[in-house]
Amino acid sequence: MLVLGLETSCDETGVALYDSERGLLADALFSQIDLHRVYGGVVPELASRDHVKRMLPLIRQVLDEAGASREQIEAIAYTSGPGLVGALLVGAACAQALAFAWGIPAVGVHHMEGHLLAPMLEETPPAFPFVALLVSGGHTQLVRVDGIGRYQLLGESLDDAAGEAFDKTAKLMGLRYPGGPEIARLAEQGTAGRFTFPRPMTDRPGLDFSFSGLKTFTLNTWQQCRDAGDASEQTRADIALAFQEAVVDTLTIKCKRALKQTGLNSLVIAGGVSANSALRQSLEGMLAGLKGKVFYARPRFCTDNGAMIAYAGCQRLLAGQHEGPEIKVQARWPMEQLPAI
Ligand code: KG4
Ligand code: ZN
Repeated sequence: MLVLGLETSCDETGVALYDSERGLLADALFSQIDLHRVYGGVVPELASRDHVKRMLPLIRQVLDEAGASREQIEAIAYTSGPGLVGALLVGAACAQALAFAWGIPAVGVHHMEGHLLAPMLEETPPAFPFVALLVSGGHTQLVRVDGIGRYQLLGESLDDAAGEAFDKTAKLMGLRYPGGPEIARLAEQGTAGRFTFPRPMTDRPGLDFSFSGLKTFTLNTWQQCRDAGDASEQTRADIALAFQEAVVDTLTIKCKRALKQTGLNSLVIAGGVSANSALRQSLEGMLAGLKGKVFYARPRFCTDNGAMIAYAGCQRLLAGQHEGPEIKVQARWPMEQLPAI
């Protein structure tokens, strides 16, 4: 089955063609980062308008790249939530209009299920069951995954998501949006051991997270240094490293706990923050100790993309699921509500 996937939940227009027999045929992405950077974060209205502009040219591009014609497309998968409503509506309206015009089914995909399944596009995909750490700009969740749509939430962030903590902390330190890659780059120049930041909620049982206090701790440290006349690039890098180490260590401790609790030794990490190489390294070290394995997507498929939506949608379509012609999106949508296939 050849599926066209459309992703428009936030600030990236992603389009891809996935075939259940031949795999991923083409994927194209337009990132709006430059558009939003001057405002220090995503401006929803601008995001929606830009998705409208990019969608059809990107669809033509993937068809060209795959050497396919539109008549070969058998179904359309689009992100129907969670995300920015205006942005989601662009993808949903476009998918439903094309599906109606072409006489093919359309299926709405849960954005986080898309992220969760992105490692399935790699050469050695994980096998069920596994524990998944979903770390994006809007979510930080630990989930036991027994199959597609068989999700048990083990823990989640009580305040900021991990990516959000990277973005907000970066902003407080005068770095550009999005903050995750900026902090990661700066941390490479940092001096290990100069600062040590707290590992929130690791001293009590449970699998929930809280990152907002860490953000304040980082800001206070940066302000104290500046007040003492030290606003050097080196100090900023040292603080970035301490912040990243605290986030990575906290995530690693909680993942280890989740694996122990479930008795599993296979971990999937997905979402924008799973592109972070310090996090990958730390989790690989921890899993080696458990004789287990950590799975993740190539960096391009860790952040938002159309390939993960085409893949996830294809699995649900193959199981016989699709929507009626209504244009329906959801800003909030717990992943455990998804039907099992
Ligand atoms: O999954 P994603 O593209 O969008 C959402 O669904 O939210 O994730 C974006 C988030 C942003 O907060 C960004 O700062 C973070 O992922 N991110 C990173 C890295 N690359 C992206 N965080 C830490 N290290 C990175 N290398
Ligand atoms: Zn995402």
